[in-house]
Amino acid sequence: MAPDNIPFFRPSFSEEEERAVIEVLRSGWLTTGKVTLEFEREFARFVGSPHALAVNSASSGLLLAMEALGVGPGKKILTTPYTFASTAMSARHLGAEVAYADIEKDTYSLDPERVLEALERDGSVAAVVPVHIAGNPCDMQALCAIAERFGVAVIEDAAHSFPSKTESGFAGTIGDAGVFSFYATKTITTGEGGMVCAKDPDVASRIALMRSHGINRTVWDRYTSPKASWIYDVVDEGWKCNLPDVLSAIGRAQLAKADSFFRSRAAIVKRYNEAFAGIEGIFTPPDGPGNAWHLYLLRLDLDVLDCDRDAFATELQAAGLGVSMHFIPHFELTYFRDRYGLKPADFPNADLKFRSTVTLPLWPGMTEAMVERVVTVVLETAARHGKRP
Ligand SMILES: Cc1ncc(COP(=O)(O)O)c(C=O)c1O
Repeated sequence: MAPDNIPFFRPSFSEEEERAVIEVLRSGWLTTGKVTLEFEREFARFVGSPHALAVNSASSGLLLAMEALGVGPGKKILTTPYTFASTAMSARHLGAEVAYADIEKDTYSLDPERVLEALERDGSVAAVVPVHIAGNPCDMQALCAIAERFGVAVIEDAAHSFPSKTESGFAGTIGDAGVFSFYATKTITTGEGGMVCAKDPDVASRIALMRSHGINRTVWDRYTSPKASWIYDVVDEGWKCNLPDVLSAIGRAQLAKADSFFRSRAAIVKRYNEAFAGIEGIFTPPDGPGNAWHLYLLRLDLDVLDCDRDAFATELQAAGLGVSMHFIPHFELTYFRDRYGLKPADFPNADLKFRSTVTLPLWPGMTEAMVERVVTVVLETAARHGKRP
């Protein structure tokens, strides 16, 4: 690695996370217990959700939320092709199928009009799954109104969108359920982990039950209530998706810094936007109200540049920037393409975004010098590839 490399992401940890982990290690209780219960309570309070359930990943959270809301054999979820694999894979694990609708022309969000058309065509959809790509919230009012008309659940894939405060509440708390990710590069992280928010107490209880093998008592209850710890029942066919206290301790420390992390990311975005606005060959990302700014998606104007996205991204990388691509749409991935016969032409907006987007470094600990270096490299690369008349 060159010495001036700017990583795509670096987590922001300090003594608070270290102290919290050491405390748990010394307590003798490592698995899901009182620290996780506190984390759930604090997270629920932060986002204003009646129920928050900590899980070992957002992928598990999606599985649990879908199961609790009636996704299973003979049913489908309706989602966007412009997302990570697990949005759809969670439905497949439940024996359900996946239907796709394109994203909006000007954003990376599921298009409510396409959702309406799909629901009119297909009566087997049990849940619409909007994804708040990069932290920019989907039009939840429109999506929830359409879903309600068809009696279909809404499960928000909020893996990118903490903390995304909109007029209707935090993204992830607007639909029937919402699933947040604390994966290593997310806006707050526990290394791996996630949180499911649910509106309905019965949905929350179902998720809690299925998160722990379908066992009707939590381990914490078994070892802290007066009832004998070895007594429990298995009442359904669940999984093991709980978040251990060691990781919840990191989560609590990160949650306490969520607002300051957000301010740092927003300041970097402001600088990028100022520098890139009006520059030929590049577009700044969509910026809806409540954007959590998990990722900075730089769009290339392929009509103006004389190179494609891969060549552009490779040059950024060669200049020392850690870059990425969010996302390879499902019509480009063998499993989903072959199973559902997906074609790029059926999703023109997602296809264009895929071919023209590169994700830039964006994390709270970036120094001013790092941010300026990103700006300079992007501007120089765009200038180098601007088509000459
Ligand atoms: C949009 C989206 N949904 C779901 C997930 C799954 O999250 P996790 O890694 O916590 O399972 C990710 C992961 O990056 C994601 O980007």
